[in-house]
Amino acid sequence: MPIHLNGRSLLTLRDFRADEIQQMIDTAADLKAAKRSGLFPRRLAQKNIAMIFLKPSCRTRASFAVAAADEGANLEILPPEDIRFGQKESVKDIARVLGRLFDGIVFRGFEHELVSELSRWAGIPVWNALCDTYHPTQVLADLLTIRETFGRIRGTRLCYVGDGRNNLATSLMIGAAKMGVDLRILAPAKLQPSPALVKELLDDASVGAAIRVSEDPAEAMAGCDAVYGDVWVSMGEEDLLAERVALLRDYKVTPDMMRLTGRADTIYLHCLPALHDLATEFASENPEVCEVDDAVFESPQSRVFEQAENRMHTAKAVMVLTAG
Ligand code: CP
Ligand code: NVA
Repeated sequence: MPIHLNGRSLLTLRDFRADEIQQMIDTAADLKAAKRSGLFPRRLAQKNIAMIFLKPSCRTRASFAVAAADEGANLEILPPEDIRFGQKESVKDIARVLGRLFDGIVFRGFEHELVSELSRWAGIPVWNALCDTYHPTQVLADLLTIRETFGRIRGTRLCYVGDGRNNLATSLMIGAAKMGVDLRILAPAKLQPSPALVKELLDDASVGAAIRVSEDPAEAMAGCDAVYGDVWVSMGEEDLLAERVALLRDYKVTPDMMRLTGRADTIYLHCLPALHDLATEFASENPEVCEVDDAVFESPQSRVFEQAENRMHTAKAVMVLTAG
């Protein structure tokens, strides 16, 4: 029986049960297969979607745009300098206006409270396209990529390496707890998630789920199916780069680090954008800021571009299920 998600916002995966997240992933897989066969059911025909990004984006914005076009929706990008939340107009007022005109809002901002307030007053689904605390649509694509690779999600072993307190690490912990992933967070002590949050998530976890936090690469990587990277400084905290490099320089994912899994078939995932040695002029000139070595990023075990494509199929599933 399909579960009804119509009208729901996606602010964080914490608000969804495991069977609801499963439905989003299953729907994404179905929509991906349909697109491969040239089928476009246009489940969002006559729908109008607003998109507001207060931080830069390539994948998320492009994914929602292509997904909306595939399903027949009209997409309107509202530049933040026109909206000016809380300066020109209150969030509550903007939300109530957009809620009268649109059928869904894709929103990327800073504090989680802003996207929550938008959702509270808009009365239509609001999809959190990343905030300082969460990145739920990314984790749906990650879970789909894991399932495509291993044929299952439950019981897979995943090691996230980097800033263990950022939006991605937090959302991966939520996704792991809900979907039964054995997740290891490999991070230096200063960048580890709070034990209280880990406990809270595990109290509500499903079968197979684990969240282990470690600063020891050998312990965290052992036996992993997948290793996951993110940038060391998230958007908005660029001035912390030197501090993060000092904390994370021993955590760069190199071929030697990958060998700590003890397996040859471990895949490498990254939400992107990535700083790998040859990624940009800045990265080539400053290899110490790179979280991953090119030899890993460009290896046959890297699934980062499949993962990026899956952003679109999962964004489409979320829109179709909640606003279709
Ligand atoms: N992974 C991700 O969210 O990428 P963008 O910042 O380019 O949207
Ligand atoms: N943690 C990163 C994720 C980018 C997709 C950031 O917030 O910048």
